[in-house]
Amino acid sequence: MDAQELVIHLGGWSLGGGPLHRKLADGLAGCVRKGAIHPGARLPSERSLAQALSISRTTVVAAYNTLRESGWLESRTGSGTWVCEGSREVAAARDSAHAAALAGSPVLNLMVHRGHEGIVDFSLGSPMPLRELPPELFMLPPEEHAALIQDRLHYPFGLPGARQAVASYYSKAGLPTGAEQILVTNGALHAISLCTALYLQRGDSVLVEDPGFFGALDTLRVAGARISPLPVEPDGVPRGLLRNRIIATAARMVYLTPTFQNPTGAVMPAAARLEVARLASELGIPVIDDGVLAEIVLDGPPPKLIAAYAPKAPVLTVSSLSKLAWPGLRVGWVRAPEPMIERLARLRSAQDLGSPLLTQAIVVRLLAEIDRIRLHRRQQLKPRRDLMAELLRESLGEWEFRIPAGGLFFWVKLPAGDSREFAQVALRHGVLVLPGTAMSAAENHAGFIRLPFLADEETLCTGVRRLAAAWREYRSAGARGRRANVSLV
Ligand SMILES: Cc1ncc(COP(=O)(O)O)c(C=O)c1O
Repeated sequence: MDAQELVIHLGGWSLGGGPLHRKLADGLAGCVRKGAIHPGARLPSERSLAQALSISRTTVVAAYNTLRESGWLESRTGSGTWVCEGSREVAAARDSAHAAALAGSPVLNLMVHRGHEGIVDFSLGSPMPLRELPPELFMLPPEEHAALIQDRLHYPFGLPGARQAVASYYSKAGLPTGAEQILVTNGALHAISLCTALYLQRGDSVLVEDPGFFGALDTLRVAGARISPLPVEPDGVPRGLLRNRIIATAARMVYLTPTFQNPTGAVMPAAARLEVARLASELGIPVIDDGVLAEIVLDGPPPKLIAAYAPKAPVLTVSSLSKLAWPGLRVGWVRAPEPMIERLARLRSAQDLGSPLLTQAIVVRLLAEIDRIRLHRRQQLKPRRDLMAELLRESLGEWEFRIPAGGLFFWVKLPAGDSREFAQVALRHGVLVLPGTAMSAAENHAGFIRLPFLADEETLCTGVRRLAAAWREYRSAGARGRRANVSLV
């Protein structure tokens, strides 16, 4: 196992009190216990793990020693260090190995450590419900609740009222839609997962923006898809590229976040959208237009949806109210030509028979108030985006970023170094950040980090102050030449 892979499994190992070597030993034992490192696996050298974690070699040596003494590890001079096959601890750990099914996901590992006291969490973009909205919006009036629970049916396509409400939402956005074109899902990621299951076989190629939304990457990885990258420029995936890439990779599906791309904030212009819609029509290739972040509009009007350029094309318009209202709703949807919706619904009914009806009924209420919700979210997030930009410019002037017109993130280019290493230093300064590599199937973008700007003012100030302290430490460590392969300015 290489050092960077191990770092992903270790997640937030350095959080909490106690000496660093002790926490590292606990973190490594935890990896074996959850099955992320198998008995017999070789661990990275002390030097390479120290570099990946941005700590001293002595700390790694002490952690490995502790684990050797307690029977987790064995070492032989010249052969390295590996996890023991025979110890009692490892045998017990093997029993819980199934918990490692998705241990490779950097995000899953970080989420386990979320909510740690005192940590500023700049990792995920999950907004709280808006204080400005009446809490009743997230509840059902008693009579509606009573009527709904009399309903004895399953709805694999979605609650009829919810399908209608989502169809009206698209029609108002300039994409005429009937309720029969909507499938309600358990969030947008579930919608992406259903499309993946319907259109991709193990080994099939799928084109995905690089960098891109890590949730979709995880879904595609689990499905065994071959992820082929599409570059992202300030205008999104460059025009004229897609046709060749589809042909060259024999792609069976395309996944795009054309508006306020996650993580770069890029917006694909109208001409590029038209091109995508035409290609989908002409080649019959399913294209997912993921609009979850497109709802967070901070400047100017949002562009038209890709499907609006070719209503009959196999475009799967996927979204939810996770960013606008609250991710805890776990309701999303797909909009597509009716035959595609039919097939997706058949597939989904083999999984779960439909999304919870009570939450769908709440989403109907929220959609009826969507203009008010949009306004409040904009009034909340625009000043936060501008404040974070100002704070970054003041205390981290050498970091480069653009101001996104919407969405939730800054995509920040570090002047030098490796953002995976920097994320380790930041964690020890009390800030959780995602390195750019977490947003790439090929682990590209080691020179970037993604920073959400949705925290409150105090948290943004504390977080940026800690990032600045972490950056000073990382820079000076680089300048002392501890990491030979890092050239810091
Ligand atoms: C681009 C994008 N799509 C989908 C999702 C997941 O949406 P949901 O919570 O509805 O599953 C996210 C959440 O971060 C996202 O950024």
